Amino acid sequence: MIERPQDQAEEEVVVPSVEKDEQRFEDTLRPRRFDDYIGQEEIKTNLLLAIQAAQKRLESLDHVLLYGPPGLGKTTLAGVIGNEMSSNVKITSGPAVERAGDLASMLTNLQDGDILFIDEVHRLPRTVEEILYPAMEDYVIDIMLGKGPTAQSLRLDLPRFTIIAATTRFGALSSPFRDRFGHIHRLDYYNEPEIEKIINRSARLMGLTIDKSAAAELAHRARLTPRIANRLLKRVRDYAQVHADGIVTKDLVHKALDLLQVDSLGLDPNDRRVLMAIIENFSGGPAGVDAIAAATSEERQTIEDVYEPYLIQLGLLERTTRGRKVTPKAYLHLGVEPPADNASLKLV
Ligand code: ADE
Repeated sequence: MIERPQDQAEEEVVVPSVEKDEQRFEDTLRPRRFDDYIGQEEIKTNLLLAIQAAQKRLESLDHVLLYGPPGLGKTTLAGVIGNEMSSNVKITSGPAVERAGDLASMLTNLQDGDILFIDEVHRLPRTVEEILYPAMEDYVIDIMLGKGPTAQSLRLDLPRFTIIAATTRFGALSSPFRDRFGHIHRLDYYNEPEIEKIINRSARLMGLTIDKSAAAELAHRARLTPRIANRLLKRVRDYAQVHADGIVTKDLVHKALDLLQVDSLGLDPNDRRVLMAIIENFSGGPAGVDAIAAATSEERQTIEDVYEPYLIQLGLLERTTRGRKVTPKAYLHLGVEPPADNASLKLV
């Protein structure tokens, strides 16, 4: 069993969840228009077309479902859609809506053309989700008045609104719910040149001077994820402020990221811990997610939603029918001798 690192120096800098303070920082860097939004080209083209068509018809936009790993810009995209449509965007999240009545009051307070953004939509309680079905399809909600045999149902008309929902777990949504979205888009990891552009844009907005090679190095270690790129940029800025004259060079990026223990592929101590757990406890796998979660003291969901997608994307981890398996590339990266009987290695 591999323990969680105790040392607080091993801060979780590459886990793309959002804390409050960081939220404010992220908000200042968020693009507001498609023209400023870098990457996700196909999604932008499709959404822009849908927006222009809806505007020509003087209609609200069909409901939009955005899914994919955390930190890739689902919330940012919802804000961009709102701006491009000149719509008010009200924001809520799955866990924040506890009762059907909460959602009913949000919906009845919307105006024609408003957007309701629901983050982490897979965490909406099922009873709340069911209220959304007629609301999304026919712009009505049925409210129950009273209880027991005298209870009556009252149907209320709703304005023409748009739901934009975001989730890291598409598979956790029921199919009747998914079917009610007119636009379903999966956000994928960015490529390094796109991340580099995002870093340069953010540096400009932060008034920071960054070398071309420094931006490229940072892009290489940012897990192909804008939120992490911006987070690392902020840490590098701190380092530059204290140890240099404020100009960010490649050498400085190396030093700042080495201090954060973010390695040459952008892995942090937690990613390496997941890989090492599979190597040390399960001879490199295959191992089930629950077993990996137990060995690393992480939640299954965190392994599935946060660590695994990027490790798979990098080709360090494989998902097989019998579980997760560490690849030869991972052994090489970690500098660990692979087991002699590893069949996949005999082939190379
Ligand atoms: N900041 C975060 N995500 C971004 C994106 N996709 N384009 C530009 N800036 C961003």
